[in-house]
Amino acid sequence: MKPYVYITRKLPEETLAELKKIAKVEMWQEEDKPVPRQILMEKAKKAAGLLTMLSDKVDEELLLQARQLKVVANLAVGFDNIDVDAASKCGVTVCNTPDVLTDTTADLAFALLMAAGRRITEAAEYVKDGKWNSWSPLLLAGTDIHHKTLGIVGMGRIGEAVAKRAAGFEMDVLYHNRRRKPEAEEKHGRLFYRTFEELLKESDYIVCLTPLTPDTKGLFNEKAFKMMKDTALFINVSRGGVVDETALDKALKQGWIRGAGLDVFREEPIPSDHPLLRHANLTALPHIGSASIETRLMMARLAVTNIAHVLQGLKAPAAVNA
Ligand code: DGY
Repeated sequence: MKPYVYITRKLPEETLAELKKIAKVEMWQEEDKPVPRQILMEKAKKAAGLLTMLSDKVDEELLLQARQLKVVANLAVGFDNIDVDAASKCGVTVCNTPDVLTDTTADLAFALLMAAGRRITEAAEYVKDGKWNSWSPLLLAGTDIHHKTLGIVGMGRIGEAVAKRAAGFEMDVLYHNRRRKPEAEEKHGRLFYRTFEELLKESDYIVCLTPLTPDTKGLFNEKAFKMMKDTALFINVSRGGVVDETALDKALKQGWIRGAGLDVFREEPIPSDHPLLRHANLTALPHIGSASIETRLMMARLAVTNIAHVLQGLKAPAAVNA
């Protein structure tokens, strides 16, 4: 009998061929609604594989009941929605989708940086709202991007891809990372390591790319925002939990920083009456970092391959705990 695999969101059929050859595949049929927890728990009980979204909580409670589970493949590079330690104890391989989304996510980080700096969303709404009466010298004037200093917190693959884009804008790039990366510094030419505090004080743009872990939870707090220049722009494309949103709200309200661009939030979707959304100098996106059609298809194929490999006793191309 073929093993059973449950996919928690509707994916294009064309991405599933490899899996369908070796498994019985069932898929939650909604494109924009997550599978309810109760249904996921039921499906997990009989599944050998789960293909999950970052909005699905794969915790110890679920893993302990999923007696036949061998693999959980997350459709994301981040996997903070999965209790990896509990999965390892249960003998479950956890997989993610690195590399295929690096450039697409770096593009979005840069787009958000530019949108925040040049007030693109504010300006676009201004036109559509019929507010544009005349050209005027400082109408919706933003701040430059070229030749400014960019600070990247979390210098993994996406960080390096963002730094590469910044080079085209002749920016100096500072980075902070757990491990210093002399090889990246040498390759880039204008890339310099800084402590977290130094980076906050010196950067015009601060891009957060660090994964959400117990160490990075709430990393951008009041103290951090107060250390930034009052002209700084803060961009987050990693996970909302890395930011203390109350502190960011204060920072925007009291002018500790110039503005922010966020693709991720503590609670997703962020409620439309959330205080952060009231700030004109905040650009908010609905977690679309890796959302190009090409990349999302590649991510789906990689997640499928991850499951197919584990179920066939092969090494998964992107396992995080094996
Ligand atoms: C990821 O892959 O972790 C991204 O946040 C998805 O856009």
